[in-house]
Amino acid sequence: MIVLGIETSCDDTGIAVVRDGHQILANLVSSQPEHARFGGVVPEIAARKHVEVLPAMLDSALDRAGVTLDDLDGVAVTRGPGLIGALLAGWCFGRGLAQACGLPYVGVHHLAAHVHGALMPALADGEPVRYPLTALVVSGGHTALYRVTAANTFVPLGQTRDDAAGEAFDKVAKLLELGYPGGPIIDRIAPQGDPFAWQLPRSDLGLDFTFSGLKAAVRRLAIEQKIEPGDATDPRILDIAASFQAAVIDMLAATTERALARFSSKGVVLCGGVAANRDLRTRFAALADRQGIPLFVSPPPLATDNGAMIAGAGHRRIAMGESDPLALAARATWPLGS
Ligand code: KG4
Ligand code: ZN
Repeated sequence: MIVLGIETSCDDTGIAVVRDGHQILANLVSSQPEHARFGGVVPEIAARKHVEVLPAMLDSALDRAGVTLDDLDGVAVTRGPGLIGALLAGWCFGRGLAQACGLPYVGVHHLAAHVHGALMPALADGEPVRYPLTALVVSGGHTALYRVTAANTFVPLGQTRDDAAGEAFDKVAKLLELGYPGGPIIDRIAPQGDPFAWQLPRSDLGLDFTFSGLKAAVRRLAIEQKIEPGDATDPRILDIAASFQAAVIDMLAATTERALARFSSKGVVLCGGVAANRDLRTRFAALADRQGIPLFVSPPPLATDNGAMIAGAGHRRIAMGESDPLALAARATWPLGS
């Protein structure tokens, strides 16, 4: 069964063709450099760019996968949560395409898809995925812990009370004038700094997260130290980047460990854009090892937003013969496990 997946919840346009929920035939992502000069995503620009690039990306994805529209068995589209204008671009495109081709059409929860993306390599290799799992979704818009009791069945455990971890990476990078998005940049430069140079605050809110205190501490430190932003080779900026990244990773790991101590789990999932972070992946590999359970972590192309995770997550419902009604609306906010 071949499913087309469409992702447009934020500023990446993703289109993918996936067989049986895990075999990726094509996975194209188009990023939008237009937002860089604003240091964050401009919703109106994001929506317009999705509308512009979707038709040509569809052709390229089908080409790359070596299939035609006639080979598709269904269309899966991100229904939410996300920027509503951006979501609607993919939602209307996918719904129109499905209608025109007489295909079933399902709306997918973006965060459930991130979790599915982390499981796809194991599913493709025929490795067992046993439930319950403890899943950390850590992206630019979300930081949350879930207990996954069965495929696509989520119980929320905790979430951020302010910024998402990815947002904190982006804002610290903006403060230090390092570029956008900040996560990959800090990931790249942090190893050149000393993570112990500055003892930045680590909060403990049980199974919840907060990053605003850390962000404020970095701002204060940059002012106190009279940091001249913009130079990614300045050793003092490298030390701040490394110390900041270490604090974020400590908090994500400690909170996940608290959840593992409280609820028995047969595996840990690490997913969302920030899961591309190399030090975070290393820390979680060690954490899962200590617990003696497998770590399911999205490979970097499946960590940041993409269409393959949407097609994979939508596959199950399409295979069961389901299709969403035409009148179903996209949802800017949509708690997972509700
Ligand atoms: O999942 P994603 O692509 O979009 C959302 O659903 O938000 O996540 C994007 C976020 C951005 O904040 C970006 O800075 C962060 O993921 N990110 C990273 C890395 N790659 C992307 N953060 C830390 N290290 C990375 N290597
Ligand atoms: Zn995402």
